Amino acid sequence: MSEVRKCLFPVAGLGTRFLPVTKEIPKEMLPLIDKPVIHYGVEEAVASGCRQIIFITGRGKRALEDYFDRSYELEQFLKERNKEDLYNLILSISSLADFAYVRQPEPLGLGHAILCAEPFCSEPFAVILTDDVIISSKPVLRQLLDVREKLGGSVIALERVPHEETERYGIVDARLYSDNVYQINDLVEKPSKDKAPSDLAIIGRYILSPTIFAHIRNIDRGEGGEYQLTDALRSLAREEPLWGVVYDGDRLDCGTKMGWFKSIIKRGLQDPELKEVVLEVLREEEYKE
Ligand code: G1P
Repeated sequence: MSEVRKCLFPVAGLGTRFLPVTKEIPKEMLPLIDKPVIHYGVEEAVASGCRQIIFITGRGKRALEDYFDRSYELEQFLKERNKEDLYNLILSISSLADFAYVRQPEPLGLGHAILCAEPFCSEPFAVILTDDVIISSKPVLRQLLDVREKLGGSVIALERVPHEETERYGIVDARLYSDNVYQINDLVEKPSKDKAPSDLAIIGRYILSPTIFAHIRNIDRGEGGEYQLTDALRSLAREEPLWGVVYDGDRLDCGTKMGWFKSIIKRGLQDPELKEVVLEVLREEEYKE
């Protein structure tokens, strides 16, 4: 079975949930403590064995491209001042992987974004949606790749969500295959709680067979007037095996203002030094009340 080496990152979205800050800063560049959110996703892809990173990007995303590029002036500056640790840190970002960029000329949805990378994906490939940062001992993409190595086909990450939240996710109709692996029969993008076929939600990690492109080309515009990857997967699942893995890990939802803020506090509490600062602020505020 061919190895999965490429990971796509659809990052052309306008980030309207975070306006005004995303007027000039890509939402993927918002920091989670001292690293931008996108950095965590790229680290996960690399730790899972994907050395080729393809960003599907659009207007106003230059900061993201620059972040993963060499920064000659900064490197020189740090070197001349013998700041070796910082120098190595900066250099390590651009050498994380091989980076390439494809443009999505119009914001027509996740399915359409993936289709923009078709000329570069003739082998199975991975997709990471950066809104979800997942902290886990084994990278989630690696958990999916392990299942693909055993069962073949395409594989997506799943998580059980409260019934009231089904309309925020793609939801699957699936049959338990073994332990945490499900065989997927059907998928619905963002159903209301009474229309959801289960409480198993798609979380932004996918291993896809290139046959997905033909399915994307055949779907109509779906939820939100966009070409939805979920609808293409629904069509694919009728012809090929599609597996779902209830992953093991702690998800930080950085796709909304509230989720992102909560994620910062959570990460802060996981860091011994920052934990003290968070608790100190809470104590001070409590004292005022
Ligand atoms: C996308 C997918 C959806 C999935 C979600 C996971 O939606 O379309 O199926 O459940 O990511 O985060 P988005 O959150 O981009 O609207």
